[in-house]
Amino acid sequence: MTIDKQLVWVRDGTEGFVLARLQDLMGEEADVIPLDNRHQRRVAAFDDIFPAGDPAKEVDDNCELMFLNEATLLNNILNRYKKNKIYTYVANILLAVNPYTDIPDMYSSSTIKKYQGRSLGELPPHVFAIADKAFRDMKALKQSQSIIVSGESGAGKTESTKYILKYLCDLWAQAAGPIEQKILDANPILEAFGNAKTTRNNNSSRFGKFMEVHFNNKYHVAGGHISHYLLEKSRICLQGPEERNYHVFYLLCAGAPQELRAALKITKPDDYLYLKNGCTQYFTSPQSEKKISASQKSKEQQTKGGLRDPILDDVEDFQRLHQALSRVGLSDDEKRGVYSVVAAVLHLGNVAFEEEGGARGGCHVAPNSEPALATAAALLGVDPGELRMALVSRLMQSSRGGMKGTAIMVPLKTYEANNARDALAKAIYSRLFDFIVHRINSSIPFQTSSYYIGVLDIAGFEYFQMNSFEQFCINYCNEKLQQFFNERILKNEQELYKREGLNVPEIRYVDNQDCIDLIESKNHGIFHILDEESKLPKPDFEHFTLSVHKELGGNSPNARIQVARTSRLKAHRALRDHEGFLLRHFAGAVCYSTSQFIEKNNDALHASLEFLVQESNSSLVQQLFQNTDNNNAKGKLNFISVGSKFQTQLTQLMGKLKENGTNFVRCIKPNSRMVGGVIEGSLVLTQLQCSGTASVLALMEHGYPSRAPFAELHALYKDLLPARLQHLTAKLFCQAIVHSFGLSDKDYKFGVTRVFFRPGKYSEFDTIMRSDPEGLKAIVESVLAWLVKARWRRSIFTALSVIKLKNKILYRQRCLIKIQNSIRGYLVRRRHQPRYRGIAKIKTLEHNLQDMETVTAQLKKEKENAKKNIENLRNSIRSACAAIKSNPNISRTEIDQLYTKLTKDVETQMSALKKAMADQKNSEEQERLRKLEAEMRAAEEAKKLEQERLRQEEENRRLKAEMEARRKAEEAERIRQEEQDRAAALKLQQQLQDAARADEENRERLEQERRDHEMAVRLARETNGHVEGSPPQLRSFPTMDSMNGENKLNRSERVRMQQAMQGKQKYDLSKWKYSELRDTINTSCDIELLEACRHEFHRRLKVYHAWKAKNARKTTMAEQERAPQSIMDAAKTPRLPQKGDVLGARHRYFRIPFVRAGGGGGAEERRGWWYAHFDGQYVARQMELHPDKTPVLLQAGVDDMQMCELSLDETGLTRKRGAEILEHEFEREWAQHNGPPYRPPHSRANRA
Ligand SMILES: Nc1ncnc2c1ncn2[C@@H]1O[C@H](COP(=O)(O)OP(=O)(O)OP(=O)(O)O)[C@@H](O)[C@H]1O
Ligand SMILES: [Mg+2]
Repeated sequence: MTIDKQLVWVRDGTEGFVLARLQDLMGEEADVIPLDNRHQRRVAAFDDIFPAGDPAKEVDDNCELMFLNEATLLNNILNRYKKNKIYTYVANILLAVNPYTDIPDMYSSSTIKKYQGRSLGELPPHVFAIADKAFRDMKALKQSQSIIVSGESGAGKTESTKYILKYLCDLWAQAAGPIEQKILDANPILEAFGNAKTTRNNNSSRFGKFMEVHFNNKYHVAGGHISHYLLEKSRICLQGPEERNYHVFYLLCAGAPQELRAALKITKPDDYLYLKNGCTQYFTSPQSEKKISASQKSKEQQTKGGLRDPILDDVEDFQRLHQALSRVGLSDDEKRGVYSVVAAVLHLGNVAFEEEGGARGGCHVAPNSEPALATAAALLGVDPGELRMALVSRLMQSSRGGMKGTAIMVPLKTYEANNARDALAKAIYSRLFDFIVHRINSSIPFQTSSYYIGVLDIAGFEYFQMNSFEQFCINYCNEKLQQFFNERILKNEQELYKREGLNVPEIRYVDNQDCIDLIESKNHGIFHILDEESKLPKPDFEHFTLSVHKELGGNSPNARIQVARTSRLKAHRALRDHEGFLLRHFAGAVCYSTSQFIEKNNDALHASLEFLVQESNSSLVQQLFQNTDNNNAKGKLNFISVGSKFQTQLTQLMGKLKENGTNFVRCIKPNSRMVGGVIEGSLVLTQLQCSGTASVLALMEHGYPSRAPFAELHALYKDLLPARLQHLTAKLFCQAIVHSFGLSDKDYKFGVTRVFFRPGKYSEFDTIMRSDPEGLKAIVESVLAWLVKARWRRSIFTALSVIKLKNKILYRQRCLIKIQNSIRGYLVRRRHQPRYRGIAKIKTLEHNLQDMETVTAQLKKEKENAKKNIENLRNSIRSACAAIKSNPNISRTEIDQLYTKLTKDVETQMSALKKAMADQKNSEEQERLRKLEAEMRAAEEAKKLEQERLRQEEENRRLKAEMEARRKAEEAERIRQEEQDRAAALKLQQQLQDAARADEENRERLEQERRDHEMAVRLARETNGHVEGSPPQLRSFPTMDSMNGENKLNRSERVRMQQAMQGKQKYDLSKWKYSELRDTINTSCDIELLEACRHEFHRRLKVYHAWKAKNARKTTMAEQERAPQSIMDAAKTPRLPQKGDVLGARHRYFRIPFVRAGGGGGAEERRGWWYAHFDGQYVARQMELHPDKTPVLLQAGVDDMQMCELSLDETGLTRKRGAEILEHEFEREWAQHNGPPYRPPHSRANRA
């Protein structure tokens, strides 16, 4: 197939999409050749091929592209990124690709100013534009706004958040003074305590936050608030090899002044268990590196040097932190307290335990850890002994054998003590973080707030090879955010289109409610199952995992929860069913290992530890633990899990988001190496898909992302236009300006309350509106022109409406006249109705007169009389009508009387006529019936005859079938008989041969004897001797040769005849004369004798004819035929007479074709029929019919010589299919040719 070799994008594993040309279409797939020959030619499904448009083109708003699809979106982003354009819109959503380098002037104050008050799309895409839009929306819609910044780790969420806050504070916070700084100061503090170096991001936020900037009714910054979520606690005790603990630990090691470090006994990262397993390098710059002494540096730092990051410097950052803490209102003591707690965590981590021998099986603090224990205790303000005690044993309340509440110290095993220590460290640190956030919040002065803009910076959808509780929580949060995104962008948008009457096709999107239910459902969600497991006496993660599979899993491949074995990833398949599960999130399947789920879901401390820290001397530590959830006091069954706390927080957050207007910033990580200028297509594509941006494209393909209420547009632009235009109503104003712009109809739509624009069109419009006075003049002119046109259209419409109205009035007039007519008619009708109805009624009687006339015409008698009567009646009807007509005052009763009288007369006359007619008809009817009967009788007769004929035919058919059956049986019998005969003949031949041989031997013997005798006689004669006995007699036996004489029946025939005659030997007919035989046949009543005679008679005939034939001249042969040749031929096959033939003699009739050669030696043949009637074995009557020859009819006993001499068997007729016919068929032909009646053999007169 040849096709237009269109330029397309084809999905590619590494590039995301590659440019190619369509080569061939193959059903569901296509053959494509990439333009770049580094890529292979391939066959791809059509789902993976997209039209390319102009691949070099890049646009600010992706919706402006000719083709909206994943591929063009990716290409647009890549093209722009290469030109340092990191921001792109997809309608109102901002896509931000992390540049990893500073782009000059990107975030400068002048840029901030540029974006102020400018609508989206007017200037190149920017995060500031989103911030400004949020601000303007807040003002215009009088509604708080949220900016949701999402993306994967390292995509630039936190940086974007910072720029947004900067923008908001820079422009509108001056009046509020220090608030701005406080809000901005929050970041270095939060990052020091909540960020860490990970493999994906040097400054990865390990918590989520929602930062609110509040505004008063004058839209000035009036306060701020930070909510934080899900601080990653596991990092406090353990990090991956390339990763670090929270920055603050390194800030303290690298940046804290010597005096402070000495007081806190802080040395270098290598010295702490909680740091040394991860990366121990500091972030430094060449300058700051110099400020760190060797004793502060880890081995790794000394060998490899410092880590470099444009925004991170552990030395500098300590200073920044220190100052920021001051600015948010922490006193020096408080700051010292904070550093002490941070240091205490490090020292606590160094407390190691050793197993204790003995029966109790507990453990104790390792001797070399004592200093660490002491330092930690000192820094936390607790007694080292108590700390030691609380770490190695657990306080339990006994419920038996004493008063409830009796405390028992249960010793812990080494691993339990390690867990207790880590739990304490995590609790201290996470509460410190809470404390810090709390302090930041309380430091921001808060005036009455009318609205706020909240910026959400929370980790995006996360998936590692193995994932734990943290990922589970963050992915749950992302499911919720995705649902929110779908609802806000897709669902709400579509609802708005519907409400406003815009005809936009519906877009389908993936609804992930089922996945959310699976996680959070109150009675069977994963969180619920996990909490239930924690409440068991011995919680077990394997049991929890199996419960998840049992309650939520399914066998279907579409089930959201699956066993890890079903994963496409090989590594997951090693995970056994009770060790984890696979959850199919909206963005893809994530494999969770559940081994830590129970511990991570419960952040409660042992009671002993909790009591210990609550009793601390340090006011900060005491403060940290004063608002505890106190799960210990609540008991196991009522404890509040981490999961449920997070759920509550998330519900609150979603509540806020739902109330607010929303703006989305989707951050994208360009490469996994964290370097600028490099962008990996497939990585970007995956992020676009996960963020739901692709679905938005589908909506925007048909949607109108920009819109403005009429009133808003009016308010916005009225001042730009001359006074005469300002007074127009809001809607007319909008219509006038939009229509007069000459935008294509497709670019905008008027809804019920607002005007909608296609992507980019609103900004186009806005730009023109704000153009220079010259441009504006042109606009005003075109608006005026539009208004004139619109008014002209309106006046034309008015004129048309007036004409329409006039027509309507005329129409109604016509209708009135019609009504008047009807009423008048009605009144007149009502007055004269009885008379004309009467006349009409009477006139109807004339029909009766006509009927009567018709009847009269049929009458045969009394015709004239009747006619006269009718005429009289007609006259009276006429006079009655005349009377009514001429008398307007005649009453209804009088009319009725007249009518009744006339009716009666008519009826009387009619009945008289009818009677006469009936009589006449009666007699006619009788005549008709008589005829009918006769006809029926005749028909019956015919029917009977027909039935008889059918019966006869049926009978014939039956007889024929019987005949055929008989023929077949006989045929079978014949074959069997022949078989027997053959055997008998063979046997006989054998006998004859034996006999002949015996004869020969005998003859030879006798001959010998005779010769011997003769010799003896001769000798005796010579010697006058004596010879005894007489000479042997030679018996005469016919030789074989003599037996085969041609004119004799052959030997076997004779043997057969002899055998046949064996039973009939009482009649030796061989001596009878021919005439005797014939006479006996014709007269005898002895059937057996008769049959024997017939046999003998015919045997002789046969011999005769055989002979005759032998001697006849060939030419005359034909004339001598007594039966058709086929019969004569059949007879040549010798046969034994059938047994029982004598007694079972039957009449049988045959007919076969007879071809006789024409006379006079002519070659022509005469075709005819040969008929035969056999009464027993021999023919009784025979008939030969030729079309042009006189029929030859012959009878046995009369014409024997000319008749067929063969027995029925010999003729073979019974074996000929269709030869036998029915008696009546033969008789019909016989009678037709005047044949004399049949006579049975014994009654045949001797006429020969
Ligand atoms: N607009 C930007 N200009 C220059 N560099 C940037 C920009 N945005 C991000 N970066 C760089 O990318 C790094 C990571 O960004 P950021 O910390 O904001 O990612 P994140 O999305 O918050 O990741 P995480 O989820 O791990 O917190 C920053 O440290 C910075 O070096
Ligand atoms: Mg971050």
